[in-house]
Amino acid sequence: MDTQVVSIDSLHPQRELIDRAAAVLRRGGLVAFPTETVYGLGANALDAAAVAGIFLAKGRPSHNPVIVHIASLDEVALIAADWPSLAAALADHFWPGPLTLVLPKHAKVPDTVTAGGPTVGVRWPAHPVAQALIRAAGVPVAAPSANRSSELSPTRAEHVLRGLQDRIDMLLDGGPTPGGIESTVLDVTCSPPRLLRPGLVGHAELEALIGPIALPTPNDQPSAALPSPGMLARHYAPRTPLECSNNATELAGELTAAGLKVGLVLMSEPAAWLKGVRTLQLPGEPAGYAAELYAALHVLDDAGLDRIVMQLPPAISEWLAVHDRLRRAAASSITV
Ligand code: TXA
Ligand code: MG
Repeated sequence: MDTQVVSIDSLHPQRELIDRAAAVLRRGGLVAFPTETVYGLGANALDAAAVAGIFLAKGRPSHNPVIVHIASLDEVALIAADWPSLAAALADHFWPGPLTLVLPKHAKVPDTVTAGGPTVGVRWPAHPVAQALIRAAGVPVAAPSANRSSELSPTRAEHVLRGLQDRIDMLLDGGPTPGGIESTVLDVTCSPPRLLRPGLVGHAELEALIGPIALPTPNDQPSAALPSPGMLARHYAPRTPLECSNNATELAGELTAAGLKVGLVLMSEPAAWLKGVRTLQLPGEPAGYAAELYAALHVLDDAGLDRIVMQLPPAISEWLAVHDRLRRAAASSITV
């Protein structure tokens, strides 16, 4: 199939373009669209065949559930069988926004969405294009990130096309997504609530509102009963082997001397530019860093390098979500 690429105003999406995309969703097609985190690949969440199309296009394993996106609180009742007061408090504070709540699933939600499990992830995104699209479609929209399974998430339309061109019906190009990494996923079916994926809403912000939550540990092993398959070790990964280091510049120098073509990602002005090393600088604070991380990795991944070396951000909780993504990007990518 040919993918129609449609440029759309990210703040004031044109009605006629939204209606075209909504019609594609209603007839069971696939539409990629920007959210405030990353681009999503959407299908009608109540149409099992349409959702199966997402898994096919992405090459996503069927055991990995997808998040359902809504555009009003009323829609929660279509998706979830229960709405605990804790969820209501979180939604009141963080929705619309980059927080996904895992809730008991409604019987009408197809098993393809939830990977056969009893729970469903629900999120009300803040991006104007996402909101307009979901509202116009008139149905909840299942949407994982719009990349091939286990590859880098897309923060720009061109990243979506790299993996999904001619595998999806339409792409709404609303420019770069502002957040840059994925939503926080919080399971509120257990007590205390459990953080399944750190993301743009920090756990300190969550705890300030609802009290202690259980955090993932770096050694959380994915098992047959995956609590959240996004916790799979290798995920969000570039094709180029990547490693993180506290002495990134030194390491990049050594690898270059050994004959490798190296890309280097720093958080501060390099003391000296290493000759022959493709060097990028990301912002030194978590939100700015997250916003640019995947775009930087996409650039380096396209540069034909042998190795990407990332300077490790500080080991403090504000950087939890970034550390999580870096660990996964590096997982098992170096074979020596
Ligand atoms: O920011 C985001 O969340 C983006 C945008 C498009 O909304 N979506 C996204 O979807 O990142 P995806 O499929 O790439 O990641 C969803 C994560 C996966 O780790 C999945 O395993 C987990 O959420 N998840 C979804 N439903 C779940 C459920 N019922 N129980 C546990 N984990 C769930
Ligand atoms: Mg994803």
